[in-house]
Amino acid sequence: MPETPEPSRRDLLHWTLAAWGAGAVAGIGGILGASAVPRPQPPTTARIPKADLKDGSATASLRGTPFTLLITPAGPVAFSLACTHARCVVAWNAASSEFLCPCHGGRFDAAGRVVAGPPPAPLRRLEVADAGDAWEIRG
Ligand code: FES
Repeated sequence: MPETPEPSRRDLLHWTLAAWGAGAVAGIGGILGASAVPRPQPPTTARIPKADLKDGSATASLRGTPFTLLITPAGPVAFSLACTHARCVVAWNAASSEFLCPCHGGRFDAAGRVVAGPPPAPLRRLEVADAGDAWEIRG
């Protein structure tokens, strides 16, 4: 029976580099393949059934950001609840008719305008449409 020759250092180096290269190619292929798969996008429209409104307001989420819909004497309005100072989540306070920010005391009126505190701009207003038995909010 013929003897199998011992692998040389050159052979070992060659196999090591070949294995490393194959692993690198597989890893890059995995990354490229994963990025080619479309990711689900958060909805750009939210529906709030009119029956779900409590005390003339409702809170939901649009593209991962909470918002509040208010029914005012002038009609429905919706605002993103991301504070314009440092993006803390503000909350509608029906008793004072203001959006209150828990982080630095920012306050906004029912029209989203800054009333007090450090926020540099009003709350972002969202589009509201009447869809029969629900309100559709787009932003
Ligand atoms: S994050 Fe709202 S006042 Fe600072």
